[in-house]
Amino acid sequence: MPDPGRPDSSAYAAPMATEIPNLLDGMATTRAIRRFAAEPIPEHDLATILWHATRAPSGTNRQPTRFVVLRDDERAVEAKAILARGFRRGWRDKAADAGYGSGSALDPVSPKGRQRAAMDHFVEHFEEIPVVVLPCLVRYRAPNPFEGSSVYPACQNLLLAARALGYGGVMTGWHVLVEDELRAVLEIPDAVAISATIPLGRPLGRHGPVRRLPLRDVVYDGHWNSPSDWAIDPPGTRFAGPPPIAPA
Ligand SMILES: Cc1cc2nc3c(=O)[nH]c(=O)nc-3n(C[C@H](O)[C@H](O)[C@H](O)COP(=O)(O)O)c2cc1C
Repeated sequence: MPDPGRPDSSAYAAPMATEIPNLLDGMATTRAIRRFAAEPIPEHDLATILWHATRAPSGTNRQPTRFVVLRDDERAVEAKAILARGFRRGWRDKAADAGYGSGSALDPVSPKGRQRAAMDHFVEHFEEIPVVVLPCLVRYRAPNPFEGSSVYPACQNLLLAARALGYGGVMTGWHVLVEDELRAVLEIPDAVAISATIPLGRPLGRHGPVRRLPLRDVVYDGHWNSPSDWAIDPPGTRFAGPPPIAPA
């Protein structure tokens, strides 16, 4: 019997765009979307998504995140074309490192083959993605390893809000490969970090349950590596482990 307080992802049915999933269902079904319909996102939906992104917390409520939203004006089109080159290069390098050019990746019905096809489609059609958001951090102290912690909660809120309205997106980092050009076109000052690139749009595929490691592998009770008998995945949960680490 599923616990009524927990999402039962196995029973999850994708809602109509007009049905907003409850918070827990939304979190359980916000997965990476990389294939988008060629439909613009209406401004009122974009504003709703960004408003919810800006509800995220930041250290001392400093609110250092700014969102550069690329739609279809001339400069945005230029920036998307620059990003597209970065994404193609990023995926080409990752595909080579992670063995996407051989073995099961060549079988279009294998999980790896499907992942490869989705990634190929993503980078080949990057310029057509309706909206690309660049969450940026206005630095207020020297760069440090913790600085992203005031930006990334907003990124996840943005993805959850998009999910709530029937849109999808994915957190990415391949702007770093073309960052100088991108900064120049968009006039992003040096003191501002581009923290992520988040493409957004109406998904071509379906939303569905995310797969992660079982709770027993990631929750330690009281001390390191101590298993718990209460952290149990809801019935029907589907799992996925991390990919193997590519040889250096
Ligand atoms: C910090 C971070 C960086 C990521 N960078 C990229 C990226 O550069 N390109 C990309 O296609 N996906 C990127 N992703 C998306 C992850 O691959 C994706 O969230 C993960 O595989 C889980 O996918 P799922 O939620 O659909 O299960 C990134 C995600 C995170 C959180």
